Amino acid sequence: MSAEIKDVRAREILDSRGQPTVHVDVWLEDESRGSFSVPSGASTGEHEAIELRDGDAARYFGKGVLNAVSNVNNIIRSALIGEPADDQRSVDDTLLNLDGTPNKSHLGANAILGVSMAAARAAAVSKKMPFYRYLSEGSSLSMPIPMMNILNGGAHADNGLDIQEFMMVPHGFSKFSESLRAGAEVFHKLKSILKKADLVTAVGDEGGFAPRLNSTRQALDLILEAIAQAGYQAGTQISLALDVAASEFYDASKQNYQFKDTGLVDSSRLIQFWKELTESYPILSIEDGLDQNDWAGWQSLTSTLGQQVQLVGDDLFVTNPAFIQKGISSKAANAVLIKLNQIGTLSETMSAIHMAQKAGYKHVVSHRSGETEDTSIADLAVATSAAFIKTGSLCRSERIAKYNRLLEIEEELTK
Ligand code: PGA
Ligand code: ZN
Repeated sequence: MSAEIKDVRAREILDSRGQPTVHVDVWLEDESRGSFSVPSGASTGEHEAIELRDGDAARYFGKGVLNAVSNVNNIIRSALIGEPADDQRSVDDTLLNLDGTPNKSHLGANAILGVSMAAARAAAVSKKMPFYRYLSEGSSLSMPIPMMNILNGGAHADNGLDIQEFMMVPHGFSKFSESLRAGAEVFHKLKSILKKADLVTAVGDEGGFAPRLNSTRQALDLILEAIAQAGYQAGTQISLALDVAASEFYDASKQNYQFKDTGLVDSSRLIQFWKELTESYPILSIEDGLDQNDWAGWQSLTSTLGQQVQLVGDDLFVTNPAFIQKGISSKAANAVLIKLNQIGTLSETMSAIHMAQKAGYKHVVSHRSGETEDTSIADLAVATSAAFIKTGSLCRSERIAKYNRLLEIEEELTK
């Protein structure tokens, strides 16, 4: 069979933060090759699959991934040679069985995901299909709306803002390329506004600005000003979105949030704050507005705001069908963030997406704060008709690569 795996090879490469990560190549008998570079998070959810790091302080201060690379080149390679790359479930089952742990800590989710995705990419090449078409398995394709990170705080910056990401969502355009242009224009406007105000225009990990600001409202006002100055209408053409990453400032022992805008508060007061904020700003989506283990809070947040605002579970769900099921049954959140490396195989990621879709939860395909030049998530978003893609700001090539891939896909789909 032509799609049989002939070889599997991994190497240690660097991600956008200059930290080691895993790159995998898979070759098939018909000479097709597929590759994948694994991303890495900073504000990782507690229940994410385990990213295997060497812990050898003599290399990369312990962050090397030679053990994960070796797991691919030895254990995984010998198990997969001769197997069909176009049977994703079977490739992933082999990987899961070889690992044998619930959180992929034996071989490492970085090793496993690298192979899972590189095998899929090789199978698409073998079938002479664009990756998005291969992934879609015949279901309909559509372009996602970008949720663009424009101001950074939290664990992604060092500037006094607690909210990790302030995003703009250019939804009032008929083509992706027009949304992208609008986003880029607002980004450049914001830069000149910050400059004039003597604020720093250096960017954070995902390419958003990270000026020293005093409050959430000040950050939102600056973005609204940039939207207006770029000649767009806030609310109808471009709305706002937040990734609060609230787990980062939650104290589980005291069950409270240490949030600068409100001071020390419990979840009901924080929910009240989100309500007030969405009443005064055109915010259409809030991600991780509460802690990853605050399920009662999430239920209350969803019953308070779920009709008006998209409430996205990132750390809450960690792309894991078991947690998503819990969210659906308990009416917590109404949308799911999808990050391949949180769960560690393509098949499980697809199950997470299908589960969300069935329950009427939207899904947002997402990058990580540590990225590479890999563009597979652009294809994944189109293949699964994701409502949104979250892939950073309008600078830094590891972010722009995904936008540029989406431009290419849009052109192919409109031919
Ligand atoms: P991370 O951030 O990749 O550092 O987890 C992205 C996010 O929280 O959405
Ligand atoms: Zn997040």
